[in-house]
Amino acid sequence: MAKTLILYFSNTGNTKRAAETMAQELGADLYRILPEKDYTAADLTWTNAGCRANQEQNDEASRPAYRGALLDLTPYDQVIIGHPIWWGIPPKIIRTVLENLDLTNKKVASFATSGGSDYHDAQKAMELWTGLNLPQGRILSSPSTIKNWLKTI
Ligand SMILES: Cc1cc2nc3c(=O)[nH]c(=O)nc-3n(C[C@H](O)[C@H](O)[C@H](O)COP(=O)(O)O)c2cc1C
Repeated sequence: MAKTLILYFSNTGNTKRAAETMAQELGADLYRILPEKDYTAADLTWTNAGCRANQEQNDEASRPAYRGALLDLTPYDQVIIGHPIWWGIPPKIIRTVLENLDLTNKKVASFATSGGSDYHDAQKAMELWTGLNLPQGRILSSPSTIKNWLKTI
């Protein structure tokens, strides 16, 4: 049977909740990407132009470190990546992770949670960062949007 991994990054719990609902729906495994250095509330105050998260998003060269080693993807056929939207795109830590993950021969898709932004720019970023053509990602929250999106990937 095909095995799916849901790899996600979440600070304030929204993406975590969506990933957990999805894992239950699919019978998939979950892996939470943790930052080497936790984000404080001040780090995430995006109304403050100089906050850590904004600095990272604005810096093309920024590759925030993740904690520990990434897991071995060998057992998985499908990898679904979940993340919040930060200034229209995934947090840069997702880029760091993608640079250290071998997705060769995996079925890949991605989703996000946001405060209202759509997935348009995130889709472009995820395709650039993975070098793959991906099925259309979506902003997900309710169990029914999650269920419907899963049918499309
Ligand atoms: C630095 C930063 C930038 C954000 N930028 C956007 C944005 O461009 N559009 C949007 O709709 N929401 C934006 N948000 C809100 C988050 O996408 C939203 O709260 C998300 O659900 C958080 O996910 P989490 O709870 O899993 O961490 C931003 C949040 C942060 C911290």
